[in-house]
Parts: sequence; C-alpha cells; structure tokens
Amino acid sequence: MTGEPRRSRSTEAFFGRRRGKTIRTPQADALEARLPAYLIDLGSRPPAPLAALFAAPVDRVRLEIGFGGGEHLLNEAARHPDTGFIGVEPFVNGMAKLMLALGDTPLRNLRVYNDDATRLLDWLPDGCLSGIDLLYPDPWPKRRHWKRRFVSRVNLDRFARVLEKGGRFRFASDIDSYVNWTLLHCRAHPAFDWQSSSADDWRRPYAGWPGTRYEAKAIREGRTPAYLTFVRV
Ligand SMILES: C[S@@+](CC[C@H](N)C(=O)[O-])C[C@H]1O[C@@H](n2cnc3c(N)ncnc32)[C@H](O)[C@@H]1O
Repeated sequence: MTGEPRRSRSTEAFFGRRRGKTIRTPQADALEARLPAYLIDLGSRPPAPLAALFAAPVDRVRLEIGFGGGEHLLNEAARHPDTGFIGVEPFVNGMAKLMLALGDTPLRNLRVYNDDATRLLDWLPDGCLSGIDLLYPDPWPKRRHWKRRFVSRVNLDRFARVLEKGGRFRFASDIDSYVNWTLLHCRAHPAFDWQSSSADDWRRPYAGWPGTRYEAKAIREGRTPAYLTFVRV
C-alpha cells in the first residue's frame, strides 16, 4: 500500500466506495426501473437553457454533491417544485435507496448523475446554478489525506464558474478541521464571501433542514455540526 490516493482512473475527486453490501431486491429493482429516466447523459451537450433538463417548468437549478441516501435532496425537491435539482452520488447503494424512495410517481424537478461530481461540473454551462450543496462530504480527517477533500482551489474554481452571481455554496460538516479548511479555502478565493450575520449562525441548520443520515450519526457520536454558506460574488 503506497500513500497515494485510491483514485479511480476515470475520476478526479472520488476516492470512496462505489458499492457496499448487496443491494436489497426492492432497491435493485427500483434502480433498474427508474434510474434511466433520471440519469443525466454527459455524452450529450447540456440543453440551453439548463432548465430544459427537467420535465417540470423550473426557474432555477441547484446541485447537491454526494447526496448519500437522498434524504435532503428529496426533501428540498419537494419543498421547491419550481427549482430543478441535480443530485450526484457515485455510491450505487445510495442511488438505489433514492430510486426506491422516489416511488412510482415521477419527481419532475429532479435529475441525477452517478459518477464523480467534477465530471458533471465540467459539463455544466457557465453561471447555470443558483446553489451548490456539499453536505457532510467525506471528511478525510488524517492530514496526509486532506488532498482528497472535495473542497480545494480547483473545485472552488469549478463552483465559481457554474454558479450565477449571488448563488450560494452551502457546506455542512461535523469535522472541525474540514470546517476550518473550507473557511480558509473560501476566504482565499476571490469569488466567494462567507455569509454570516451573527457570531453563531453557522451553528444553526439551514431553513427547512431535514437532517441527513451522516449528520444523525455524527450527533449520536457527540460531534457538533457546522453549516456554512458562501455567496458567489
Ligand atoms: C459522508 S457521505 C455523506 C452523505 C450525505 N450527504 C449525508 O450527509 O448523509 C459523503 C458522500 O459523498 C459521496 N462522494 C464522495 N466523493 C464524491 C465525488 N467526487 N462526487 C460525488 N459524490 C462524492 C460519497 O459517495 C458519499 O456518499
């Protein structure tokens, strides 16, 4: 074992697992039946305007990177029917869970992508998103693994390109060193301003926050989450 990241040959920022335990039959069936209708094909050019990706008429588009089981993504898509949501998750078990949770009635303001989010980001047109959520990204707490973290100068450049002016980048984490890392990276980046109106608002969840599975585990284990919001200037 060398100190090099387990980077898949075809991706740049995904170092996690693509599969976990055997997917239960209902989830596997849902994945097979429903994924094709939701999956974005990067082999075609993005539609102009990007809102045309969605069956529903939407007036803005948001992206969630690494949605896990999709609890937050589904909640947001239901709360904001006029917004199109793109969810990215390379972990097949997570995607299968989302497909089962979707049920048989199509969610017309949702599309998904099942590989490294950097690929989708590079496919998207300039200034097409009103928001990006990166919620409890893989923390890579050991210093020698920090370079695997999704937040980096190059990925903030990607975010800056695809976010419209005034668009928001939201980052939640329970790992203090990653919260500091993100604050430092965004402070050093000319396209982002930290939006903080009081000394402790970053300790309060976002409006309508349903929680996520990873967050529930962090709280059970005694860690305190932080909820940061940066504005694309
Ligand atoms: C710690 S989990 C958190 C999941 C979920 N957001 C939650 O809070 O429960 C991080 C997720 O990010 C996904 N992920 C890691 N690298 C990624 C990448 N480059 N692109 C998209 N998703 C990624 C992983 O597969 C994993 O499901």
